Amino acid sequence: MDRFIILESSLELVPEEIADHPAIVSDARRRRKKAVELLLDDSKHYSAMKTLEHREKRGRPDIVHQCLLLLLDSPLRSFEIYVHTIKDEIIRFSRDTRLPRNYNRFVGLMEDLFKKGKIEANGKVLIEILNVELPEIVGDRNVLLLTEKGERFEAKMLEKEVSICIGGFAHGDFFDKTLRNLGRYRAVSLGRESYTSLYVTSKILCEYERVRSSEDS
Ligand SMILES: C[S@@+](CC[C@H](N)C(=O)[O-])C[C@H]1O[C@@H](n2cnc3c(N)ncnc32)[C@H](O)[C@@H]1O
Repeated sequence: MDRFIILESSLELVPEEIADHPAIVSDARRRRKKAVELLLDDSKHYSAMKTLEHREKRGRPDIVHQCLLLLLDSPLRSFEIYVHTIKDEIIRFSRDTRLPRNYNRFVGLMEDLFKKGKIEANGKVLIEILNVELPEIVGDRNVLLLTEKGERFEAKMLEKEVSICIGGFAHGDFFDKTLRNLGRYRAVSLGRESYTSLYVTSKILCEYERVRSSEDS
């Protein structure tokens, strides 16, 4: 089974260190939740985030939301979907997940996930935070890391079982630790410019579908 992995995704709860900032406190009051139960969101917590380390890579759950909607919509069942977060957590999304298309509902669902560790429906686990590390998720497949600095993408790179890794953050580079955890990977580029995660996901998903569908026919 192939895997799509959204790497270092901007998906985390509000960290303790900024939980008493006025922007967070007022959002928590409005949402009737504890500050540390809120999903960190740059569009609401901008002023509170100024002091955070790696601030440029954090607080963008909308990126993960968009990429997940795209991947989950694919009719091809030959791949699994994982989200690796900036805090090194691994979340598995079952292909049967019907993710809310509304962003605010997605935020509520992710807050629930971080609280309970999993989301179930009709006795089936749909979304789950796994107790595993990144190397176990990439496995011994061919690891393709999408990056503007890689060799030009070619369809033949998808010939064997693959783990396709796309950054789920807006700015900055992958951490060295993440790159080490990928093991032997191939850096693959779709062009020399930096594209959005959504554009890269859609482009590589199209290529992937084309290759896998032609294998079936
Ligand atoms: C907005 S970028 C993150 C910013 C960062 N400067 C970068 O390009 O890695 C989001 C992700 O899209 C992918 N990406 C962006 N531009 C790409 C390109 N030209 N070719 C392949 N992947 C790309 C990478 O996985 C990247 O982490």
